[in-house]
Amino acid sequence: MDNRPIGVFDSGLGGLTVVRQLISQLPCEDIVYFGDTGRVPYGTRSAETIEKYASQDSRFLIGKGVKFIIAACGTVSSVAPHILNSLPVPAIGVVEPAAAAAVEASKNLKIGVVGTAATINSGSFRQAILRLQPNAEVFEQACPLFVPLVENGWIDQNNEITRLTAEKYLAPLKAEGIDTLLLGCTHFPLLMPVIRKVLGPDVALVDSGKSTAAYCARRLTQAGLLASPDKKGSHSFYVSDRPGDFTRVASMFLGREIEGSISMVDIEQVACASC
Ligand code: DGL
Repeated sequence: MDNRPIGVFDSGLGGLTVVRQLISQLPCEDIVYFGDTGRVPYGTRSAETIEKYASQDSRFLIGKGVKFIIAACGTVSSVAPHILNSLPVPAIGVVEPAAAAAVEASKNLKIGVVGTAATINSGSFRQAILRLQPNAEVFEQACPLFVPLVENGWIDQNNEITRLTAEKYLAPLKAEGIDTLLLGCTHFPLLMPVIRKVLGPDVALVDSGKSTAAYCARRLTQAGLLASPDKKGSHSFYVSDRPGDFTRVASMFLGREIEGSISMVDIEQVACASC
């Protein structure tokens, strides 16, 4: 048994879709979340900047005494896996768990992948899918406008701008006859209703949050790192800017009112102090 918290970070709010799954799959675990709301988005930045941010975010969580880290960000998981692999605690990203879930879900092995520009340029999901299933055909599409739509709460399937944006991005994937779409960005599960409306009910949507939380549960179980089963997990949230906005939008990502403390942190300073 290990009652230290699980650390989760993202460029902003999107990682809360992973936290939501963690709370439901591992209710006894304490969770410390860091959302880099002062520096979001990561998906339009250079590899060097994404690596620096990933390293600082991880160091902040290590300073909080976490036993395990989840990079709940498709961009960090795709561009900076080597940073995650070099940490003094076990760490995972969303690429491998989500790729495995997509391969399992697909029958015709025509799999679409959507993510930020940095994620799609890295080819991370394509490579992970092909490692598991070399016969798969992978069709990728960067959807950078999905991130601000979600951050601004424009997720209603009847929102015309969101629907038209989804139609434009998803048309080429639909034309290829995909039967599975991997949501390779942790913001995108919030757009599931509109994506489903555009692609129709026969295309399976793979939420990286769900598969990543399940993978985390397996890793903690195997390593004997699960928290005591008789306790209820507590949750603390840290952001690098606008804690008020975070509180307002977070419930949308979590699917419930936020429980636990929300604090502001100067990430550059904190990460530097622990270097
Ligand atoms: N959460 C990020 C991801 O999963 C998307 C937002 C960003 O560009 O930082 O890639």
